[in-house]
Amino acid sequence: MRLLCRIEEIPEGTGKGFQIENDGGVKEIFAVRVGDSAFVYRNSCPHTGITLNWKEDQFMSFDGLYIQCSMHFAQFRIADGYCVYGPCAGQSLRRETAEIRDGAIWIQSYSTT
Ligand code: FES
Repeated sequence: MRLLCRIEEIPEGTGKGFQIENDGGVKEIFAVRVGDSAFVYRNSCPHTGITLNWKEDQFMSFDGLYIQCSMHFAQFRIADGYCVYGPCAGQSLRRETAEIRDGAIWIQSYSTT
């Protein structure tokens, strides 16, 4: 298990990006907070592999209902990362296994595949 951050470090309904050292490299992931829950995904669009955010920690649509690619406005459901609109519709973000313990977000593992 690896500590990501405390849940209150992510304002409600927003996301926060992280760079995780893994196998000698750095991988990007992000977490979206919904109440006392958090959903963690790899920061990589399924159709091009680029990061979703243009600005730091900007991962959400204007209405806050979807994760959104800043470049092409693809929208992904928060709960499962499924793309409902955009060039990668029908594909999904890669979810990281995470859990909340004592108000902190922990990720279970990080795979390079
Ligand atoms: S990179 Fe895939 S929607 Fe923007």
